[in-house]
This record gives sequence, C-alpha cells and structure tokens, in this order.
Amino acid sequence: MRILVTGGAGYIGSHVVRALGGAGHEVLTYDNLSTGNRWAVLYGSLIEADLADLDTLSNTIRDFSPDVIMHFAASIVVSESVQNPLKYYRNNSINTLGLIEESINNGVSKFIFSSSAAVYGIPEHVPVAEDALLKPINPYGASKLVSEFALKDAAGAVGDFEYVSLRYFNVAGADASSRIGQFYKDPTHLITRCLRTALGKYPELHIFGTDYPTQDGTCIRDFIHVEDLAEAHKRAMDYLVSGGKSTVLNCGYGRGYSVREVVEASKRITGVDYPVVEAPRRPGDPPELFADSGKIRDVLGWTFKRNDLELIIKTAWEWEKAALDRFG
Ligand code: UFG
Repeated sequence: MRILVTGGAGYIGSHVVRALGGAGHEVLTYDNLSTGNRWAVLYGSLIEADLADLDTLSNTIRDFSPDVIMHFAASIVVSESVQNPLKYYRNNSINTLGLIEESINNGVSKFIFSSSAAVYGIPEHVPVAEDALLKPINPYGASKLVSEFALKDAAGAVGDFEYVSLRYFNVAGADASSRIGQFYKDPTHLITRCLRTALGKYPELHIFGTDYPTQDGTCIRDFIHVEDLAEAHKRAMDYLVSGGKSTVLNCGYGRGYSVREVVEASKRITGVDYPVVEAPRRPGDPPELFADSGKIRDVLGWTFKRNDLELIIKTAWEWEKAALDRFG
C-alpha cells in the first residue's frame, strides 16, 4: 500500500510510520515540523510543508497517489486550546476540511483520522461507548468533533469515500527499540511528566486534584500503548481496503488506572522516589474516562496486545533515558 501520513514526524504518527514501513508499505510523511522531528521519520520521505498550503498538499497527493491517507497532524494541548481556540479550529478543523477535500479531488477514497476521547467531554457512563453523547468540554475536543462531522457528511455525499475515525484515549509508551517516543518541549502528559521528574528534569510531580469521586480521589484514565495504537491503524487500513464501511472506533483498553497508581508504578519502575505535590484540580479534567473497547474488537476482528501499564511505563522510561543520551 502507498500511505500518506500527515504528522508522521510526531509522536503517534512516527510510530505508525514505523509500523507501516516495517511491514513493507510505502509511506510518505507530510509534516510542518512545528512539533515533529525529522529524525523520528524512520521510513520513507518527508515533505516539510503545512496542511494550510493547499497547493503543496494537492501536488503531493497527486504525485504520490496514495491508496490511503492517515491524518495525525494537529494541535493537541487542551489547556492551550482554551486560551487560543481559533488556533485549534484552524489547525485541526479547517486543515482537516482541506485535507478531506484534496483527498476527494485527487481520487483518494480511504481516510483514517486521529480523533480523541475528548469528543465525549465528561461522559455520563464509563466505560464510554462510541454511541455516547458527544459533548466536548474544550475547544480541542470540539475541533476534533467538527472534523468527525465533516468526514461523516463527506462519506455520505461522496460515493466511494470511506473513513475510520479512531478515538484515542491516553496514549503512552514508546517503540521497543527506543528509537522514537514522545518528545515535546514542555510535555503535559502524566506518564511523561512522571518519568522526566524521575530523571530530575522537574523538581516535583503535581497531582492535579485529590478530591475526585474515585477510589483514591485522583482521576482515572485508560492508558493505551502507542505500538498497539499503531497496529490499530494498520488494521483499520486493511479493513477499509477490503471494503469496510465508514466507522468510528474507540482506542482504549477498557481498564482505568488512577493518577496515584500511575505515579506509584512509575516510581517502582524507575527506582526513583521523586517528590510529589498534591495540587488543585486542573480545569477541564473528566474524573473518570475509560473506553468500551468492544466495537474495535468486533469491527477489526482483533484485540490489543499490550494491555499492561508496566510495559507502557517501561518502554516510555527506556525512551526517556535514550532521549536524554541523544539530545540532553
Ligand atoms: N496529571 C497530573 N499531573 C501531571 C499531568 C497530568 O495529575 O503532571 C493528571 C491530569 O490532571 C489527568 C491525568 O493526569 O487527571 C491524565 O492527564 P494527561 O494530561 O496525561 O491526559 P488527559 O487525560 O488530560 O488527556 C487525554 C488526551 C487528550 C484528550 C483528553 C480527553 O491526551 O488528547 O485525554 O480528556 F483530549
């Protein structure tokens, strides 16, 4: 298969490029390198360009003539989306509309979209299923939902255009070889913050909120290994290519861990008893978010293989240490 991967130089995109390239597919990454890195693209070439540059985008799609487009490129920091919502509607919604249009104009009829559990907002029930109410509580989630609506309507209107929208829960971990992993300047994600605190990059780890209505008072999340997520993209591609219809699938294991459990596991795995400070709630955090993962199992006929918090944290830890050696 020939696959165009937008955002292929970023955290999740680069793992998918590695999985696709490793399986012998021909991959082309399209990335403006605003948060991604050239070194993270382990297979195929990189076009350094912005999705808003529709001429370059259109020429790239026409020249490469992909069988499938996978769309990762996006802004992803929830707190930033509250402060600068229009950036999120532009980078996430408008750029996705442009990409859908250029896909259709250039005859590419299979599209895989990186959506987020943020489209659910604060779910009424957990585990949350794909047909739950969609009520995002921040512009990041809303910007992803706009893209999902556009895909749904485009697929309804354009005969052979089919898509899979994958709603990610809390993606973490790294490639087993430690060649790629999460690499943000100022990461906000829990596991990365824990590990960088263990490395001494931060003086302490803040736990945001200890008064939630959960067993230990901290939020509960569904952590999914990035290599499982990469495999889900490959399976979603196979599904579409073999005639599968448009669908939306949760990507989570259906098992929640509390923030305290993650902190304790990260201390055990790193062997560092780093300082932890109990802090006020972070605005916009749903207390408990984990997936009903039955649909992806049924639709793709496959189950995730790395449902193991220890493995997720261990691979992320190996990556953090390797990144420290490589980049300081
Ligand atoms: N947390 C801390 N301390 C930290 C970092 C995080 O206590 O230093 C807590 C958060 O308050 C939250 C939990 O750890 O309760 C997980 O936070 P993350 O930032 O790691 O992840 P989120 O659950 O906020 O974000 C994920 C996805 C987003 C998506 C969101 C939907 O990364 O893309 O779920 O709720 F929008």
